[in-house]
Amino acid sequence: MAELGYDGKVAIITGAGGGLGRQHALLLASRGALVVINDLGGAVDGTGSDKGAAERVVDEIKALGGEAVADTNSVATPEGGEGIVKSAMEAFGRVDIVVNNAGILRDKAFNNMTEELVAPVLDVHLKGAFNVTRPAWAVMREQGYGRIISTSSAAGIFGNFGQTNYGAAKMGLVGFTRVLAIEGAKYGIKANAIAPLAMTRMTETILGAFGDKLAPGLVSPIVGYLAHESCEATGRVFSVGGGRVAEVFIAETPGFYKEDLSLEDVADNFGAITARDGYAVPANLGEETGLFMNAFRG
Ligand code: NAI
Repeated sequence: MAELGYDGKVAIITGAGGGLGRQHALLLASRGALVVINDLGGAVDGTGSDKGAAERVVDEIKALGGEAVADTNSVATPEGGEGIVKSAMEAFGRVDIVVNNAGILRDKAFNNMTEELVAPVLDVHLKGAFNVTRPAWAVMREQGYGRIISTSSAAGIFGNFGQTNYGAAKMGLVGFTRVLAIEGAKYGIKANAIAPLAMTRMTETILGAFGDKLAPGLVSPIVGYLAHESCEATGRVFSVGGGRVAEVFIAETPGFYKEDLSLEDVADNFGAITARDGYAVPANLGEETGLFMNAFRG
């Protein structure tokens, strides 16, 4: 197949001063995208800042012949999100691609979870995606074109000990993505999410020897595809890492129906309620409601 390129399309990549975001930026810039490298440059837990993190990736891209500008706003506030989109508009005059990638970790078992561990994690991952995508959306609607890729996580989709804050934010991004896909359809805007697995500073202490197989650059090809104008997929979630890419989907069992359902009916038929044969994969709320109608019609 012919090499895929971005032909001067403008991409905002949040948290691109290192890890996965830097790899996404290097790939898109190497194929002709004009990239805004956003990064606050803090520690994994979100404390501190280093304006040099974004600047260093911009230098790297320029040394390779690409075009990029640095932005050090925080995604965690609406003003920061507006500032990031303003950086793109001032430097390049449009916004075609947003990769919501910035992230922090504040893990703790739920028993010990405090407001100081919950609020910043929701602010960066979940509200961060709102803060950046909202001003970008206005530009994309006007253009009649846009690609939004948000970074979810298996920790939220499937669950992981010690990550109620992070898991809630990451699964929230799945809902965010599915609704954006519906609202963006008539404006040529596609929204998808990824659940990556890669060796970065965020995961280096937990992946062990397995980490050798999980170079962060192996996550970027699916991001690049979802960011490309030829991509038709929207509202979808992809699990990706170490060269493996798969789709994650939300399914519903055929279920059990009885017009006068009682508590005992639920207990007696729990096996039928949860039997997975013949499951459905509704594309939206309307299709899910249709499953009720089918049951009522018998
Ligand atoms: P990383 O720590 O190298 O990258 C995150 C980047 O976000 C950092 O450069 C950080 O400075 C930046 N950042 C943090 N708060 C920010 C803010 N308020 N504004 C702007 N930038 C900010 O870690 P990694 O692994 O590259 O993570 C990237 C994304 O992938 C995150 O959303 C993470 O939750 C997600 N993820 C990573 C997985 C992995 O296996 N590495 C697994 C699942 C999800």
